[in-house]
This record gives sequence, C-alpha cells and structure tokens, in this order.
Amino acid sequence: MHEVNEDSIKLREEVFAYARKRLEYDPAPLDGPQSHSWLREKAGITISEQGLGGSQALEIFSEILAPATISTDHPNYLSFIPSAPTEASKLFDLIVSASAIYGGSWMEGAGAVFAENEVLSWFAQEAGLPKSAGGVFVQGGTLGNLSALVAARNSASQRLVESGKELPRKWKFICSAEAHSSLKSAAAVMDVEIIKANVDETGHLTGTSVAQALAAAGDGVFAIVATAGTTNFGIVDRIDEIAQVANENQIWFHVDGAYGLAGILSPESKHLFIGVEKADSLIVDPHKWLFAPFDACALIYRNPELARQAHTQHGEYLETLTESGDWNPSDYAYNLTRRPRGLPLWFSLATHGVAAYREGVKKNISLAKEIAEVIRSRPDLELVREPELSVVVFTKADWSLRDYDAWSNKLLERGQAFVVPSSHKGKPNARFAIVNPRTQLKALIEILDSMDEEG
Ligand SMILES: Cc1ncc(COP(=O)(O)O)c(C=O)c1O
Repeated sequence: MHEVNEDSIKLREEVFAYARKRLEYDPAPLDGPQSHSWLREKAGITISEQGLGGSQALEIFSEILAPATISTDHPNYLSFIPSAPTEASKLFDLIVSASAIYGGSWMEGAGAVFAENEVLSWFAQEAGLPKSAGGVFVQGGTLGNLSALVAARNSASQRLVESGKELPRKWKFICSAEAHSSLKSAAAVMDVEIIKANVDETGHLTGTSVAQALAAAGDGVFAIVATAGTTNFGIVDRIDEIAQVANENQIWFHVDGAYGLAGILSPESKHLFIGVEKADSLIVDPHKWLFAPFDACALIYRNPELARQAHTQHGEYLETLTESGDWNPSDYAYNLTRRPRGLPLWFSLATHGVAAYREGVKKNISLAKEIAEVIRSRPDLELVREPELSVVVFTKADWSLRDYDAWSNKLLERGQAFVVPSSHKGKPNARFAIVNPRTQLKALIEILDSMDEEG
C-alpha cells in the first residue's frame, strides 16, 4: 500500500486528473443528495477483504458519490453559510494532504505553524488586538467557541482561587438571544448556564441589554459573548457597548465572528466591528467568508497564556513538547493532533494579498444591498430585516412553509440554486447567504422570478 510502483503512479495520475477536472468546472454542477437505498444500490459493496482497486473506487466516487454531494462552492449555493474557497486555497489543500504535516507542535510542524501564525497575527492586527495575541486554527466555529469559553472559565476560576474566594455554585455566560446554536451546545458540554439577553427590535444585542442580564444573573458570570454577524441575519451586535460592560465588570469578552467578522476587511463595514479590539478572544471561520476550504476556524486570544493554562494536555509522552517552551498550537484549544488547516488560507493570502480579500468581501456586501433593493421594489416580497453584511432574508406574501419547500426543491432539482427556507419568530422565510464573489445579481433575480412560476 505504501510502495510507489507502477500501479500507484497510475492511480496518482488518475486522482490528479479528477482533481483537475473538478477545479476546471466553471461552475461545478450543483448536484444534490440521493437516498441511502439509491446509493447502496448504485455504489454496491465498497469495503471488502480484497479491495476494489483505486481506479474502481475512484470511479464510484466520481460517478456515484460526488454527484450525490452538493457543491457548496456553487455561486448559487445560498443556504446556511456556503463556502467559496479560492483556487489557490484548494490547490494548497492538496499539498497539505500530500505532506503529512503534524500541526500540533512546533517541534514537528514549525514551518507550518509559523505560516499559520502569520495568518492569525494578520487577522489579530485587523481586529486591533495587541501584537502578543495568538491562537490556533480549529475545526470550526463550534469548537472555537467552546475552546474560548473553556479558557474564559478557567481564567475566572483561577482568579477566584488566587484571591481566596469561593467558586460559584454555577458558572454562567451571557450571549444574545439570537446567538448561534453552538453556544448552547458549549454550555451543555461545559455544564454551565447560558443566559440569553434580549436583542433590540433590529436584532442587535446592546450594552444596556447585557448590563440588565448581568445585574439579574447574580454571581458566576465568567464570559460575555457578542456575535459579529448572526447566522440567520448577519446582524453585528453592538460590540463596543458590550465590550464596555464586560471590561467594567472584568468579565472575559468573547466575539463570535464565525461568519461575519470577515466583514471587518471591507473599509465600508469596518465601523460595525468597533470594540472587537477589546475582545479577550474571538473566532472567525475561513471556511465561511475568508474563501478557504473546509474546515477551519481561526481562534485568537488577547492573552494566549490564559488559553494555554486551560488547554495544555499533560502526559509522560507529551512532556518533551509541553516543557519545551515552544509555541504548540494544540495548547490553545480542545484538541491535540491537528492538521495544519490554516495553511490553505495562508497560501491564498500570500498569493493574492489582503486587498483581494477586502475586495471579495466588499463585493458580497454590495450584492446583498443590491438584491435587497430589488426585493424592496417587488410588492409581493418583504425584507424581514435590513441586511447589514451579506445575508438577505425575505418573505413572499401568503406563502406557507410548504410553498417555500416546494420552491426550494424545484430549484435544487433543476440545478439552479440551493436556497432552503429559514424562519424567524415562527414565520418561514427565504434567505440568501452570499459569500461567493462569483454570485451574480442576475442569477439572484432569476431565483426571485422563479417564485412566481406556476406549479
Ligand atoms: C455565528 C456562528 N457561530 C458559530 C458557528 C459554528 O461554526 P461551525 O459550523 O464551523 O462549527 C456558526 C455556523 O454557521 C455561526 O454562524
């Protein structure tokens, strides 16, 4: 299996040819899911004692399995938060896979860790954090939020212990009522209470609301979380006001910018993020709006030492690493073995420069505003909220969830677009999440037009 021989070289060329073909699509077909029974029948038995041989396995993947996966980088994939990796980042992901780099420690992966840290430092600087800020790329925003909150609780706990005070009966953190589901999940994993503070009528968490929630919470609040771009609407909480409440009360301030914090790169939107420079930790997911492949979340701490104290794993087999004094990425999150998943973004940033990223983000925000204008001009459509970043949410008069579902299925079946319904306050809606610089206004208008088709 590990030998390089005639067969392996032939397979290598076949795999490269497939990768080349996928990269050359413009765009890749949208494709769509198939049932388990369909896949079982078409793919047949793939895992056997003898193996199928690489060519046949590749054929099953390219002919049966790949078409049963939606191309999240299709310009009309507009659901959830899509992905739009640059050509350079996809190419470099191939190199990362071919290179067997261990990204957990400096000893094993110094060159890769150095490059990842260049990216983290760059983004920390964009956010206005001090030069000493640093962190790690983890798998996704869910793990990023969890790791930051674990560090926050550990730091609060250490402070109480050092000052001889009692630990609270229950730890708590405050976030927006519209914060991402991963925060609820983090609270459950950590066995802490989540306090969801009310948002104002435009969906923003404000300093006043956080202060009220804090006053009502009693003791044990170890973190306050602002969302820089909510998932459903792309709303950026009033970060500066919230930061002030957190700082005044000496509570860890975390910014969940998994989707939206990339918006800081556009000079026109930068003002929305004022206050992020006061964060104790932040996350931004390159696989969302920094044009990198799955899966990567940049987790950055103002004072990485606090995270290291919370996360470093200790074991006889690890001592040579933990006692080295080197920068080991594993120490900064709930992870040990890790792929250097920041490298595709590093390569793409190094290739294209930051200005190209600013342009891409800016273009998405402009397109969201343009299509919102079109929606506003149509009497049967209504914007649910004004778009702030690149998410546009709207309803069609008299449509039930069944209508949205039927329309969504039709768009996917004909390979036109992937737009699943969402909802707000129990009312279904349609939602465009735009993170692909190749998404066109014309295509979005065609999708709107398709809402008026019969049947
Ligand atoms: C604001 C926000 N936070 C966290 C997450 C979780 O990120 P991931 O899906 O990468 O775990 C998301 C995902 O959409 C998000 O939008």
